[in-house]
Amino acid sequence: MNTDWIPTRPIWLAPDDKTVQVIDQRRLPHELVVMDIENEDDAIRAISEMVVRGAPLIGVTGAYAVYLAAVRAAADPDPEGRFKRACERIKAARPTAVNLVWAVDRVQSAALRLAPEARAEAAKKEAARIAEEEAENCRMIGRHGLSLIEEIQKTKAAGPVNLLTHCNAGWLACVEYGTATAPMYAAFEAGIDIHVWVDETRPLNQGSRLTAWELGRRGIPHTVVADNAGGHLMQHGMVDLVIVGTDRTTGTGDVANKIGTYLKALAAADNKVPFYVALPSSTFDWGLTDGVSQIPIEERNSEEIRYVQGLCDGQVLSVLVPPSDSPVVNYAFDVTPARLVTGFITERGICRATAEDIRRLFPEKIA
Ligand code: MRU
Repeated sequence: MNTDWIPTRPIWLAPDDKTVQVIDQRRLPHELVVMDIENEDDAIRAISEMVVRGAPLIGVTGAYAVYLAAVRAAADPDPEGRFKRACERIKAARPTAVNLVWAVDRVQSAALRLAPEARAEAAKKEAARIAEEEAENCRMIGRHGLSLIEEIQKTKAAGPVNLLTHCNAGWLACVEYGTATAPMYAAFEAGIDIHVWVDETRPLNQGSRLTAWELGRRGIPHTVVADNAGGHLMQHGMVDLVIVGTDRTTGTGDVANKIGTYLKALAAADNKVPFYVALPSSTFDWGLTDGVSQIPIEERNSEEIRYVQGLCDGQVLSVLVPPSDSPVVNYAFDVTPARLVTGFITERGICRATAEDIRRLFPEKIA
């Protein structure tokens, strides 16, 4: 593991301008390794195998994949056909995070306005623009979300503001700051005493591997808990605020996020703990009105549940947990209905999880 190098973003364009480089998130926290992405096929593999993951980062990776596809397509006898087919393949790399389709469509249309030889340059610029916009969106989510934590702090006689989060909606999943973590970073920087309960987030442990790593590097007090601990913590007054991210949210406020989020929302509602979802506007799927029936839920390889990965005697190993012949199914996301969501923290401010309130913040997005 390279312990000297301190990355600040999970994706960047290499100095040669032809290689996209990403942190291989499958290997964190025990190994910090960079992977090169040379073409759209590498990018599709990186997205589907979760080298990169998290809705905004999947979008930015897809955007750069369109750039790499445009470079290749320029040399093809049918540049337009090849480019369009490549874009369709990129969009299919993972189904739930809407940021992927949104980003690919945006870069593709910026490129297709131009002649084949000019498309790659235009796509590269548009992908970089999306990366910068997502970083700025997360910064603004942090600013708006800070006010929620400040309000809670005022009501507490003693002790830290206790937050709970699920999965990894940190800078690794975005470009900078993260979505759910941005208010935490902002509060910590403002000198507010905070503590974060980090759900381990089985099966791939994005919480215990990635969120804990991020928070620890920043010096933010946190504790990893089993996924099923949240209800107990809330019943005993040990959680003041839940903040999670999302992979796709309907224009009416239903939230798809990592499997297990719905159960946290139910426990939060039962215990009157505010449950907020932090998201950039690129994660809204504006036309959808019913998350449970309309959002595609990814089903991933059962090996991710059968095997658990960890460090043993200095080596990263994978071990089998259930009986080898037990059937396993791996739903990767669930949908939390809007009625269980206290509010959204977006780059434009905070709103309730209703179509009317969302429309008030983003009047141009919903017809
Ligand atoms: O399967 P993953 O790791 O891509 O799932 C990620 C999540 O569910 C995050 O909570 C989500 O993308 C939040 S956006 C930062």
